[in-house]
Amino acid sequence: MSSTKNETEEKGSKFRKRVLSGVQPSGKLHLGNYFGAIRQHIALQDEGECFYFIADYHSMTTISDGKTRRENTNDVALDYLALGLDPAKAAFFRQSDVPEVCELSWIFACMTNMGLIERAVSYKDKVARGLVPNVGLFTYPILMTADILIYRSTLVPVGEDQIHNIEITRDIAQRFNHAVGEEVFPMPNYRLDQVAKVPGLDGQKMSKSYGNTIDLFAEGSALKKTVMSIVTDSTPLESPKDPARCNVFALYQLFASPEEQEEMANAYRQGGFGYGEAKKRLLQKINDYFGPFREKRRQLVAQKDFVEDVLREGARVARNEARKTIDVVRELTGLGRM
Ligand code: ADP
Ligand code: TRP
Repeated sequence: MSSTKNETEEKGSKFRKRVLSGVQPSGKLHLGNYFGAIRQHIALQDEGECFYFIADYHSMTTISDGKTRRENTNDVALDYLALGLDPAKAAFFRQSDVPEVCELSWIFACMTNMGLIERAVSYKDKVARGLVPNVGLFTYPILMTADILIYRSTLVPVGEDQIHNIEITRDIAQRFNHAVGEEVFPMPNYRLDQVAKVPGLDGQKMSKSYGNTIDLFAEGSALKKTVMSIVTDSTPLESPKDPARCNVFALYQLFASPEEQEEMANAYRQGGFGYGEAKKRLLQKINDYFGPFREKRRQLVAQKDFVEDVLREGARVARNEARKTIDVVRELTGLGRM
């Protein structure tokens, strides 16, 4: 089951359901991104209007090199399209192709108390890990708010770590509506997939910044090496083991049927079943699941201009919506009419 905050609130709202989410082009996508976010993005495209974008402005908080950003953006687009994003069903675009979000972000920044952003957990977490923050990283939740509200989105499918940012979005939406005396923006809800937090090789949350990822499009010996490096305890092969405390088992559960999970859990409990064997079975599952997507990705790479054409068309649709919002916001805030 997925979980949605305040789903009931949506009923009776004057806003129609619109799904939106973004992903940063900040490196290779991994199993955490897939099971926490991408899988639900793709599933939701059959349930209503969807806007998905590659958050290249956001990536500027941590990546300064333009060539890297361009390559990462192209890679993320290819990954999504290979994984099943259908541009005929969802508007898929680059964040920076709708520069109006920066304007809205400024307007929101001027209505946001420092305290609200100072409490942002993802910022505090990054600083605690030693990242030297720039101002962009600090104001990031305001740009994210603009990303969501400029399309008057009502549902934001994300992983657990983004919940606080959606709460900030709701806060700012409320503040804006109150300031102008009109319900311009909906109160968006977040949506979590059934696995909100995928563990990495070391058991911490899987994350690019922890260097503990299994990349979605890794294959062959590189993938094998990664899977074999999953950290396990030193219980000897013949001893019983606790599946609930094992990273390999947690990852296996993402792919296996309930019967397969039960079978492996029993093998753990009985003893005589080693972590090496569990890793081999996990590797097989990853290859079976992602094999067809790898093939699809290879085909897409060969189609010159395909990605660019998709992103441009998505941006046209998105920008059209964004302009409508900006016109209303400019009018209500006394800025010039365009
Ligand atoms: P990373 O932590 O690797 O930098 P991002 O912050 O770019 O990943 O996350 C992109 C999306 O994937 C977000 O919606 C986030 O919540 C989700 N996500 C990232 N890592 C995980 C994980 N380990 N488990 C579940 N969801 C995740
Ligand atoms: N902050 C998100 C992440 O790091 C990416 C993102 C940017 C996003 N803007 C968004 C997600 C708007 C959902 C909605 O993963």
